[in-house]
Amino acid sequence: MKATIDHDASSSTSAAPVREAGAAPGLLSGEALERRLEALMHQDRFAPPTRIVTAESVNEASLHARAEHDPDAFWAEQARTLDWDVPFTTVLDDSNPPFYKWFVDGKLNVSYNCLDRHVEAGRGDRVAFHWAGEEGERLAITYADLHRDVQRLANALKDADIGKGDVVGIYLPMIPEVVVAMLACARIGAPHNVVFGGFAPEAVKERMEVSNAKALITVDGARRKGKTAPVKAAVDEVMGDLESLETIVVVRHAGIDVPMTAGRDVFFDEIVANADPICAPEPMEAEHPLFILYSSGSTAKPKGIVHTTGGYLTGVSSTHRHVFDLDPERDVYFCSADVGWVTGHSYIVYGPLCNGATSVMYEGAPDYPHKGIWWELIERYGVSIFYTAPTAIRACMKWGAEHPNAHDLSSLRVLGSVGEPINPKAWLWYHVVVGRERCPIVDTWWQTETGQIMISPLPGLTETKPGSATFPLPGVVADVVDETTGESIEQGQGLLVLKRPWPGMLRTLYGDDERYVETYFSRFGNDTYLVGDAAIRDKEGYLWIVGRIDDVINVSGHRLSTAEVESAIVAHEKVAEAAVVAQSDELTGQAIVAFVTLQGELEGTPEIEGQIRDHVAAQIGKLARPKRILWSDDLPKTRSGKIMRRLLRDIAEGRALGDVTTLRDPTVMAALEQKIVTAQADER
Ligand code: PRX
Repeated sequence: MKATIDHDASSSTSAAPVREAGAAPGLLSGEALERRLEALMHQDRFAPPTRIVTAESVNEASLHARAEHDPDAFWAEQARTLDWDVPFTTVLDDSNPPFYKWFVDGKLNVSYNCLDRHVEAGRGDRVAFHWAGEEGERLAITYADLHRDVQRLANALKDADIGKGDVVGIYLPMIPEVVVAMLACARIGAPHNVVFGGFAPEAVKERMEVSNAKALITVDGARRKGKTAPVKAAVDEVMGDLESLETIVVVRHAGIDVPMTAGRDVFFDEIVANADPICAPEPMEAEHPLFILYSSGSTAKPKGIVHTTGGYLTGVSSTHRHVFDLDPERDVYFCSADVGWVTGHSYIVYGPLCNGATSVMYEGAPDYPHKGIWWELIERYGVSIFYTAPTAIRACMKWGAEHPNAHDLSSLRVLGSVGEPINPKAWLWYHVVVGRERCPIVDTWWQTETGQIMISPLPGLTETKPGSATFPLPGVVADVVDETTGESIEQGQGLLVLKRPWPGMLRTLYGDDERYVETYFSRFGNDTYLVGDAAIRDKEGYLWIVGRIDDVINVSGHRLSTAEVESAIVAHEKVAEAAVVAQSDELTGQAIVAFVTLQGELEGTPEIEGQIRDHVAAQIGKLARPKRILWSDDLPKTRSGKIMRRLLRDIAEGRALGDVTTLRDPTVMAALEQKIVTAQADER
């Protein structure tokens, strides 16, 4: 990646100091902070601080009303902020539910909207990303830089016979090339399939296989907290015989030697240098698939969530503007997610670039090289909008307020949260310590499937309550319904559903229309999308997301399926049977607990436990390793042999056991309860 070395951030971005800041209260830590948080615990709502917000959300309080009055007209208006090669005449085509189409007769190119139009408007020198490397490297990558590299890579891909409709895998760390790779694919209409760098090569192979990927863009090695892990070599070890995979492109990043297979493997920098510099963006049908992103569902087989072009870009760009009150001329935006998850796709790459925003992209972990790195970056680049996850906030709480307090965070004006319910204590800490009690917090609820933020406060408009994602965004119709009748619940807990299609919604599951209908639309019919979360609506209509209702576990905002982890554990030669459940965890939200029965007379030992954890890491990734493994001679099963996970969840949470009368052997439970008591004693 050729880009200017970013010695002085303030000279390389147009971002000016952001708006009037309120008087900063004294920075709190220790007991004083605890007292302040305790006092705020009694405050049940927080008024929107309009002083530091300028957006449509303030100036146009009518946004909601307009959208409610005519949602199609609202979304059409949002779509018209994009550049269309062929304007659409149809907004929503709902003639074949639940296969909805948006702007179906229009044509546009995503990379044109994210790059060319900014360059053509004279904004090529604007920084798209201030990239910060783990070891202190700095790059300022402008829109013109991206425009140049994307065209070259797009041509190189075409030279490798990759064209419209061919799937390209991307398995890269948080480096600028990941953005170039995604946009190059978008430019030529090759749907990308990004796999999070924390997943194991086995998981990459599976995702390449099921999506029939023709090429994979990966890296020599990934840096993590001062160590380098070989990536290309590890990919080679498992990828071997994959027939569809004709090309592997390797980014040289970590500076380690890599095995290269002649005729298949090429270096990113070489093909980019040799490629033709001009690649005209190809107009794509609005419904052309932009990407596939695999996510966990209720079964061991991950779901290939398919997003398309026009609706997705409309959804992510408009929500990015509204929810974060974005002013691309002045704001500096920092989303701490990884590009490998949907948050990275929608709110690091497509939304911000489409809006011409200046972002910060950080390669490393939040505690490397030190626990104040995020705050250092915010101070260095004058970040005004910061978007992170509750699990990260809780980790920061643990590390202590002295880290953020050591930095000037006065540039901040909007704070975002995503990935899991945020507990009020973490919300308040974020508000007091990071936001210094002047920045609105937007708790954004959405999913890989929804593509775009669906439920969230608007920063200058919505009164917030810590822990509530508040209300659906304009153009979104959400409801809380009774799980059996599907009737709307005015106040109380039920299932969260979405009652109207939205532009950024998934269109299907890759190669499996049937599973798409079955998973999301079989419960309440083709016009009601089943989210998979339970939610509470309070007496003022605020929505509080409770958590998943299916066998999906949310560890640190990472979505994993119990079945996927179980199948990885059972694949270990010494294991006879396994059941995996979620347990509440102070830091990670939920943690994985595995109940494991070993083969024959084998006794569980720390050694086998280590092997099982390594095995799961190799099959799925380190993030899926169980936090606790409990050996059990038997698992609670119904008479028909089905494992009753509900009882295991009760045990893991230390709750009173539900009905055990349907068990084949009720004594199993007593033995298990004893086990967990012993395990807890051991941990203390
Ligand atoms: O359970 C909800 C939780 O994360 C799930 C979606 O996970 P994923 O597809 O990986 O996407 C995560 C990032 C968009 C949801 O079904 N979730 C996400 N955001 C929130 C949340 N739960 C509560 N509050 C949120 N703000």
